[in-house]
Amino acid sequence: MTGQPQSGRARWRSGKTVAGVSALAMSAAALGVALPAYAAEGCEVEYSVTNEWSSGFSASVSVTNLGDSLDGWQLEWDFPGDQQVTNGWSGDFNQSGQHVTVSNTSWNGTLDTDGSVQFGFNGSGAGDVPSEFTLNGVACDGSTGEPDPDPTETPDPDPSETPDPEPEPGERVDNPFEGADLYVNPVWSEKAAGEPGGGAIADESTAVWMDRIGAIEGNDSPTTGSMGLRDHLDEAVAQAGGRPMTIQVVIYNLPGRDCAALASNGELGQEEIGRYKTEYIDVIADIMDDEKYSDLRIATIIEPDSLPNLVTNVGSRDTATENCDTMLENGNYVEGVGYALSELGDISNVYNYVDAGHHGWIGWDTNLGPSVEVFREAATTAGATIDDVHGFAVNTANYSALIEPHFDVGDTVNGQQVRQSDWVDWNQYIDSQSFAQALRSEAVSQGFDSDIGAIIDTSRNGWGGSERPDGPSSSNDLNTFVEESRIDRRIHVGNWCNQSGAGLGERPQAAPASGIDAYTWIKPPGESDGSSEEIDNDEGKGFDRMCDPTYEGNVRNGNNPSGALPDAPLAGHWFSAQFQELLANAHPAV
Ligand code: BGC
Repeated sequence: MTGQPQSGRARWRSGKTVAGVSALAMSAAALGVALPAYAAEGCEVEYSVTNEWSSGFSASVSVTNLGDSLDGWQLEWDFPGDQQVTNGWSGDFNQSGQHVTVSNTSWNGTLDTDGSVQFGFNGSGAGDVPSEFTLNGVACDGSTGEPDPDPTETPDPDPSETPDPEPEPGERVDNPFEGADLYVNPVWSEKAAGEPGGGAIADESTAVWMDRIGAIEGNDSPTTGSMGLRDHLDEAVAQAGGRPMTIQVVIYNLPGRDCAALASNGELGQEEIGRYKTEYIDVIADIMDDEKYSDLRIATIIEPDSLPNLVTNVGSRDTATENCDTMLENGNYVEGVGYALSELGDISNVYNYVDAGHHGWIGWDTNLGPSVEVFREAATTAGATIDDVHGFAVNTANYSALIEPHFDVGDTVNGQQVRQSDWVDWNQYIDSQSFAQALRSEAVSQGFDSDIGAIIDTSRNGWGGSERPDGPSSSNDLNTFVEESRIDRRIHVGNWCNQSGAGLGERPQAAPASGIDAYTWIKPPGESDGSSEEIDNDEGKGFDRMCDPTYEGNVRNGNNPSGALPDAPLAGHWFSAQFQELLANAHPAV
């Protein structure tokens, strides 16, 4: 039926055969093309037609590699009819007749064992689902992954091909999300499932926010519900099957919290660093250190938004606030983050990710290097060492597109650089993933371990729905081109509160791209960013006009309208209308 999103889904698993590999080599030679150096051994393909109209369709494709890690991939299929790819994203597309070849881009070529990669495209014609796929020349045809035994030949065992043993639960690993199941927070899950249509995503993993001292015990609070930290960890142990289990915990209670905004001001005053240490971090560390949780992988996201504020919202900058100046002068953000890193980093199954803002905040060169300097300072304060940092978290509770598929920061339009446009405004980055990768490199160049990873909050940066552009604009005018091409539909990249038009982003997944440990849902979809008008409360939350839909903005969002949804409750409280909007605009679609 046209006009209706159709979910044509197909799943295949396959096994490599010797014949499959030589067929790959032959066809490569015959075609004279360079194929990736690695053959696949098995794959699973999910091909979903997410939208269909009278003359075309959109499809999203997820490829899971069931074999050894691949350094470069190509997925191929034949369309059943006269379909043509009109534009695609997150892959390089080639079509000859009915045959389509999609290769990795420069940033998503690594496909680890059990890792997945997603790409999508718009096509003309009917959205019929192809029947066969190959990954790096090997058919994804339904067998289970073992090579076909050849009775006439006993292959020499090749020690370099012996698979690494699966890590044991509790063993320290490079990427705590990889090969693990992810914890589903029952408190969030129940709220999501209670929403019309929410059942489809209620079993996704979301982070648990320790947003006040009381949240550690669990106190029937409107944001955290009745489950305390121990309850969540016990539940994570219970949810674990045979595989390692990863739970994400957000550490979010610094003194003088949220110094450049008001919506998430917290319970601790600017000077209450002592209470932060003894009543908050020490208590959390004691619980996480309990032997009964030693098989869990605990990924902590350390203090969203705090350290970047010490760079951009202080001193002589026109974005400075008195509160951020105070937090810089009294050193309590740096001391608090250092203490958290040090105490939690001592626990062998805790993986600390320091929050690093987002591209629309510290993506400019004048902010990125200096922010990493502050991260480094914090990571060497209050007993912390660089080794206590496992990585960085990017886009936490923000809306920056994961990847802008229709233009690149290096593009020019009519001789002008995209960077000169009003939207990009000389930023070095236009999306979260390129920013996360650059941040990682900058951190390594400033002395962080070369193994650090980044995680990206993709809970609300999907930007699907009817407003999503299908392809690049054909305009020759720079600003029109960017306006018509960008998928991030915010009025300004500085807008952060309950953004109208946003959708759920990529579902949580491990090792999706080079340097990225995971796409995760750190901000639980449906939890407000702040109230749209003043609401009395005993949580320390303020009223920030960036959450008021009638507000005309301030210097931090270039004096633009806030783009916030109306009728929002306090930060962290359930906001049904926002949940519905996120569901409707999800990309990939739900
Ligand atoms: C709020 C917290 C809440 C978190 C997750 C923050 O903006 O201040 O109370 O736990 O969002 O929703």
